[in-house]
Amino acid sequence: MRVNINQIKEMKQKGDKIVMLTAYDYTTARIIDEAGIPLILVGDSLGMVVLGYDSTIPVTMKEMLHHTRAVARGVKSALVIGDMPFMTYHISIEDALRNAARFIQEGSAQAVKLEGGVNVTDKVAAIVNCGIPVMGHIGLTPQSIHQLGGFKIQGKSLEAAKKLLEDARALEEAGAFAVVLETIPTPLASLISQKISIPTIGIGAGAGCDGQVQVISDMLGLFTDFVPKHAKQYAKLADVMSKVIVEYSDEVKNGSFPTEAQSFSMDESILAEL
Ligand code: KIV
Repeated sequence: MRVNINQIKEMKQKGDKIVMLTAYDYTTARIIDEAGIPLILVGDSLGMVVLGYDSTIPVTMKEMLHHTRAVARGVKSALVIGDMPFMTYHISIEDALRNAARFIQEGSAQAVKLEGGVNVTDKVAAIVNCGIPVMGHIGLTPQSIHQLGGFKIQGKSLEAAKKLLEDARALEEAGAFAVVLETIPTPLASLISQKISIPTIGIGAGAGCDGQVQVISDMLGLFTDFVPKHAKQYAKLADVMSKVIVEYSDEVKNGSFPTEAQSFSMDESILAEL
């Protein structure tokens, strides 16, 4: 049975913490799904941790759809959320609807996420009215990194804190089923979580949020260009990979790989006929 948005909203009411992870490929998505994680985000962090861009801004619909389809093929139970790339929902409501629909029809996602608060609520409401669940995303919104002046903590002044609360309320009002709070002081994120009825999913927003999201490549210690403060490395897969790759290379060079276990035999009499 597929997780649906009502179950996610009920989790907040029951006080059950909501777990979300990003995925970008079939194999990882399948492992995450089999671990029982209810929300899988095909984040536009794809651009940085998989495609090697220096921000999420260059990511295109074509790239997002390609990876969303791969993730969807690996998932049986979790709700798959496609992250709408930069400028695919800003220009007009028509554009936002067309691109959100592509995530559902072509990407096989069940929901979309977009960045912004009051400034995007007309788009959020229009997408929700077409029957597509929307997750909001406020605080440090990486697609606006140039406007924000860098990867900085958001909502520290009274004015900025009021604006974030207003944004969260506007997204709830527009029909979003949940909202990501990124890089916001813990007390403010807790307050927002108490003031709105939809679940908040934190990343660098403290333990008072209704759920948490991590970028899988950060969590596994696979992406090592930089480690954001909000990331916890539960493993160091980059180190494991590099050790294994060196071991393989050594074995090929010294002839100890492959062995019979990785090889195929045949009737020697056939060889004699050649
Ligand atoms: O793109 C992404 O992975 C995200 C999460 C960090 C929420 O937006």
